Amino acid sequence: MLAPALDARLEAVLALVEAEAHADIGSDHAHLPIRLIREGRAGRCVVVELNPGPLALARRNVARARLHDHIEVREGDGFAPLLPGEVDSASVSGMGAGTITGILRRAGERLPPALVLQPNDSARTLRLWARENGHHLKAERLIPGHWPYPVLRLERRDGPDPAYADLPEQAALRYGPHLLREGSEVLLKLVRADIARLTPLAAPGRTAGVELDAALSALAVLGGQ
Ligand SMILES: C[S@@+](CC[C@H](N)C(=O)[O-])C[C@H]1O[C@@H](n2cnc3c(N)ncnc32)[C@H](O)[C@@H]1O
Repeated sequence: MLAPALDARLEAVLALVEAEAHADIGSDHAHLPIRLIREGRAGRCVVVELNPGPLALARRNVARARLHDHIEVREGDGFAPLLPGEVDSASVSGMGAGTITGILRRAGERLPPALVLQPNDSARTLRLWARENGHHLKAERLIPGHWPYPVLRLERRDGPDPAYADLPEQAALRYGPHLLREGSEVLLKLVRADIARLTPLAAPGRTAGVELDAALSALAVLGGQ
């Protein structure tokens, strides 16, 4: 296997990684690290897998690609199998934002300074985690698929994240400050769908009302009507 095909969301993750040493947490098939090495986007990779089936699959694919000198496959939970400072970057993709946030919270001093995250649901929790834990949002993508998949690149930085400047806070946390500024068709469609879904549910003080307000202010930033 020379260069496994990736779906569009993993292609977006791939394009946001640039590292000497990179860890792919919850890799499953190890297709992402294989492509990272093949394309020179990482010099060395560590694959971490919790479950025996995906662990065996990752080992098999790395061996078939003849990349065992560049990719090491380790069994374990999140960042636990890594030493502090061992990698300068990590990806966590294809899981719920709650699961990803749990993995980040447990990482402690093993957490590298750059992260590429792709949750299968809203990235709001991850953006909040980034703001509370000294990471800035450096890039965001929204990839069409079964639903729109957010992909975030975070980097450890001091001070408030300038990406949020001059944007309505709740809209930026829900939809992404870079994505709001870029204003793609995919985002506009998502915001409109949220407004249609939330309007009949919204009442003052209810969660749906707060989410509807965020969607309406996002629409205003996007210049929609
Ligand atoms: C849905 S797959 C996503 C695979 C791949 N990252 C992708 O985006 O296509 C999630 C993978 O993460 C693994 N996983 C879940 N929680 C994990 C954890 N805490 N540590 C390591 N691996 C984990 C699962 O075994 C599974 O292989």
